[in-house]
Amino acid sequence: MAGTDPWITLQITVGQIEETLRDPIYESWVALAGEEIAGVAVIQMKGACTGYLKSIAVSDQWRKKHVGSQIMDFIEQRIFAGHSNVFLCVSSFNEVAKQFYVRRGYREIGVIRNYLAEGYDEIFMRKTTGPVFRN
Ligand SMILES: CC(C)(COP(=O)(O)OP(=O)(O)OC[C@H]1O[C@@H](n2cnc3c(N)ncnc32)[C@H](O)[C@@H]1OP(=O)(O)O)[C@@H](O)C(=O)NCCC(=O)NCCS
Repeated sequence: MAGTDPWITLQITVGQIEETLRDPIYESWVALAGEEIAGVAVIQMKGACTGYLKSIAVSDQWRKKHVGSQIMDFIEQRIFAGHSNVFLCVSSFNEVAKQFYVRRGYREIGVIRNYLAEGYDEIFMRKTTGPVFRN
């Protein structure tokens, strides 16, 4: 992750990423192609914004081969099994990821200015199956 955008542009270090991966509030998942890690996803299943996709990344050599889509299928299945929203943030400069999410049914619900790094905005997005409380 530290070797690719958006983490490079946002100057997020290996140490900061490792800290996230060790934080028990998050679940980390990997997509394996044999022994090789083809992709990774980190989600938050507790607390504010339950069902939050904190990070997803596919290894360079595995991109555009539907690994990201398979990871998202898994994450959405995991979250929608008990909750009605998947939330995520995408950096405003990350057009590829933004389009990837829009095609999967995510919609912008806000813009968080200077959230992760000074001068960069995060687009807050949501995919929903409906209101949390239903009659
Ligand atoms: C965003 C990301 C996870 C997508 O993963 P991926 O495995 O490459 O995506 P998929 O192969 O499942 O692609 C799904 C669709 O998007 C299209 N797509 C993916 N990357 C694309 C690109 N760079 N340009 C154009 N289309 C692209 C695919 O062609 C595919 O379309 P199809 O379903 O019509 O065939 C991957 O590009 C990535 O890891 N990016 C760097 C990290 C990142 O930005 N993470 C998101 C942080 S919020």
